[in-house]
Amino acid sequence: MIILPGPASKNLANRLASELKTRLIPVFSKSFPDGESYIRIEGDLEGEEVVIVQTTSPPQDKRMMQLFLMASEAKDQGASNILAVIPYFAYSRQDKAFLPGEAFSAKTVISILKACGVTQIITVNAHNPQALASFTLPIKDLSAIPLLARYFKDQGYKGAVSLSMGKKGLANAKEAATILGGEYDFIPTQRDPHTGKVTIEEKRLDVKGKVAILFDDIISSGGTMAKSVAHTKNQGASKVYAACVHPLLMANARERIVQNGADEVVGTDSVTSMVSVVSVAPIIAEALVKNGA
Ligand code: R5P
Repeated sequence: MIILPGPASKNLANRLASELKTRLIPVFSKSFPDGESYIRIEGDLEGEEVVIVQTTSPPQDKRMMQLFLMASEAKDQGASNILAVIPYFAYSRQDKAFLPGEAFSAKTVISILKACGVTQIITVNAHNPQALASFTLPIKDLSAIPLLARYFKDQGYKGAVSLSMGKKGLANAKEAATILGGEYDFIPTQRDPHTGKVTIEEKRLDVKGKVAILFDDIISSGGTMAKSVAHTKNQGASKVYAACVHPLLMANARERIVQNGADEVVGTDSVTSMVSVVSVAPIIAEALVKNGA
């Protein structure tokens, strides 16, 4: 197996290569003056099982294009298999047309990856794994929630209350609670599909005087997390921590969340950021080993 470190995930790819004691072939990348992407794979991939590691956090179009170019060059060189590790899978939130006429972006991106020769995908906390399961390309979705929960347990927060954003995310809170050992519940967040505005319904949470840790797959603008932190704090939690797998943290998202009462914002290195203190390398390495690496 050969690892190709995509320009957006060099550190993660290096960690994976050393954990798996496998070869890594450098990828040279640059942007032309007009913004177009250039990729050069500095080694021979003929007959090799190739693993491309490339997250697709912003600038997602650029990073997707780099991924398409790496995969299609690996295919042209005659790689025997091309597995794409895409820790943050851009466009996967648009997993159907929510309003008439909306483009089904996740489907389009997966079709292009397939056309470029990708035969399998490993991702982390995809927004809607059930939706991804309906595609013809095999997609393995890993959960980094236990890694985040273990981080907080190691910090001394055993017994903290685990909370998810929205009922749909309740599985995240439940998964975290199996490690933290406390209660779990959800904050009833709702997003208006037209305006994108997030609101929270009235609901009592059993957090008075307790430490609460809020788990979400993504923090993008920070709106959902900031409102949820304020809601939890207003209900009397002694400390509130904001944890996410993919810290996109657009604009001043982290500051906004802290201003609303969070004691700390924590994320993983699925996306490189100032809060990426937990690495997803162990779960990806384990999945690659199970896959025959
Ligand atoms: C929504 O379903 C997701 O789980 C996140 O809560 C959402 O994508 C976060 O977005 P933002 O940070 O922009 O509110």
